[in-house]
Amino acid sequence: MEIEREVERRVRRRSLGEPLQYILGSTDFGPLTLECRAPILIPRPETGDVFQRLASLVRAGLGRLSRRRKTDGQALEKEQGEARLDVKVLDLYTGSGAIALLIAHELRSSPRHAGRPAEWDREHELNFRALGVDINPLAIELALVNREKTGLTREVDFVQSDALSLTDLDLLDGRPHLVVANPPYIPMEEYERLPGSVKEWEDVDALLGDGERGQEVGDRVRADGLAHYRALARNLGGLLGVDPEVTSSGLDDDWDDAGLPRVAVEIGDGQAGRVRRIMELESRGVIGRTECWVDMYGKERMVVGWRR
Ligand SMILES: C[S@@+](CC[C@H](N)C(=O)[O-])C[C@H]1O[C@@H](n2cnc3c(N)ncnc32)[C@H](O)[C@@H]1O
Repeated sequence: MEIEREVERRVRRRSLGEPLQYILGSTDFGPLTLECRAPILIPRPETGDVFQRLASLVRAGLGRLSRRRKTDGQALEKEQGEARLDVKVLDLYTGSGAIALLIAHELRSSPRHAGRPAEWDREHELNFRALGVDINPLAIELALVNREKTGLTREVDFVQSDALSLTDLDLLDGRPHLVVANPPYIPMEEYERLPGSVKEWEDVDALLGDGERGQEVGDRVRADGLAHYRALARNLGGLLGVDPEVTSSGLDDDWDDAGLPRVAVEIGDGQAGRVRRIMELESRGVIGRTECWVDMYGKERMVVGWRR
């Protein structure tokens, strides 16, 4: 009887338009199952698709980097007698923690990780750290639950902060090599037309790229949903620790030499060209080259940027 009543309650919630993921309390995200709680944005499969491919690209690049260092006989950081590569990823606008956790899952060095061949672990010992940042304390609460759920407590941390004025990277223990983000990017005009199952359940601050926050970063006249990309492009050098005035940036140049990207951002419909230009022109020389990746539905979904 109790089960029947619960099913009835859930059917009723669904009939009122509540997304299934909130009713069931979880969703699959690539290889992970993550807890979902309203109003924190439900991680989308297309996001999982492009960021999983990004993790594969990074993994391949790290393989090249590791082999090159071994061939060059360069001194590697030694930890407990093992040669290790440091990899630090900053996930801005982390929400449920989905992207940070997915990348950590794909790159962590645990030999127990089933999805990766054991040789890879032996060949490329990684010292992986990720930090997820969100302005909403409820998002950070959920991200921490998901961190426990996925067993990635050693690899990932989360902190509540405004991504637009982030300075404290202590939890990352140094500068990130790569910044990833799925910021709010929906323009006001498009937001008005969203289905009720999105607009009435998911946090407006997770979706709307314009509005007060956008205006704070100098977009008083624009309502194109791109305010967070402009802010990120301008802040990228500071976050990565690049001084554009100095040719030798103090960055780990090996990362760039191995063809590894410095930034990867999810984008909305029709935003690819403009976000590519923002990253190339407004990052003060930090990003020299970008690509747009399409998702599994054939839609332009991510802009990836390299120093050169
Ligand atoms: C589109 S959601 C992305 C969530 C998650 N990364 C994902 O892909 O499923 C955007 C997130 O940005 C957060 N956010 C909005 N403005 C922010 C700001 N200024 N600083 C940090 N986080 C912000 C929202 O709380 C929301 O969780």
